[in-house]
Amino acid sequence: MIEKDFVPVIPFVSQEAGNVRAEAPSNIALIKYWGKYPGQIPANPSISFTLKNCTSATSIAYDKKNIKDSGISFEFLFEGQSKPEFEPKLRTFFERIIKYLPFLEDYHLKISSSNSFPHSSGIASSASAMAAMAACLMEMERRHNPDISPEYIALKSSFLARLGSGSACRSIAGGLVVWGKHDAVAGSSDLYGIPFPDAIDRVFHDFQDTILLVHRGQKQISSTLGHKLMDGHPFATQRFEQANRHLQEIKGILANGDLDRFIALVELEALTLHAMMMSSSPYFMLMKPNTLAIIERIWQYRRETQVPLCFTLDAGANVHVLYPNTYREKVLQFIKNELVAYCENGQYICDQVGTGVEIS
Ligand code: DP6
Repeated sequence: MIEKDFVPVIPFVSQEAGNVRAEAPSNIALIKYWGKYPGQIPANPSISFTLKNCTSATSIAYDKKNIKDSGISFEFLFEGQSKPEFEPKLRTFFERIIKYLPFLEDYHLKISSSNSFPHSSGIASSASAMAAMAACLMEMERRHNPDISPEYIALKSSFLARLGSGSACRSIAGGLVVWGKHDAVAGSSDLYGIPFPDAIDRVFHDFQDTILLVHRGQKQISSTLGHKLMDGHPFATQRFEQANRHLQEIKGILANGDLDRFIALVELEALTLHAMMMSSSPYFMLMKPNTLAIIERIWQYRRETQVPLCFTLDAGANVHVLYPNTYREKVLQFIKNELVAYCENGQYICDQVGTGVEIS
């Protein structure tokens, strides 16, 4: 599909009013998206596990406007409270998507959103929030045009979510999702995420992600600004090439379930992401001393026990511990005994691979 396939061709007859609701999960990237071009086009392809328990639930009550004017009219509540600081991002999102959902100009939207995970936990909520929002808007489109197919709805939801936040486009489908064109992944696109189409060993079907909340405060740098740091970064070209090579490489790993190679690749990706931030101008250090302490304990435990667990990081200090479901009890015991001490207020979240967005 290309961009113009997402512009509706038939005029919609607007309805009086209605209500839509969607719940979308967060995702954790194995190969990271870091760097983008105008129009939310990623500088390199990425792949992530869709999660299950860290979700955003969004509902939109839409009401026909009395006077039709151009532009989108909306109000936004987060966990029952108005959040003026979120409005500029939402406004930009609506400006980007109005061309693809022109019927929105007929309505006033009352949007309410909430997260299943603690507010300001440092977990990226823009992915789940924007995916839930995009899914709600596509449910509105479906009600105006019931003939659109589930496949089209899935791709366009991801396309719209991307225009809100790049990584959000990987939170519509479940399992493993690829975003960004790569010759080795059939159907991959810079415009939306697709379920990884090739063989996946069963060990990855129910992979676990325990998120250790090392630092719950405000991030030092938003990821939107972070991506900008890759413009003119001295290592940008090599990084983008490396990510492309890694995607080629992970194909084989996912097919044959080679956990040693999986671990090496996922940890390298996490550290490269942080290395990019540490070597940009200006530079940032988003890991905290406890992030490093956890990484060292994970390495030591892996050496001593041969349990195939590894870590990955987002653009922040929290640590995602990834491991196969068969080691769940053992790893959780290790986390409780040895890693919880490094978490702020002892907090962590148990998550695992999930099935993607749900409309209710
Ligand atoms: C480090 O998707 O939050 O989590 O497109 O500007 O909203 P915007 O950025 P965002 O970037 C996420 C970056 C990352 C890596 C990843 O999820 O691939």
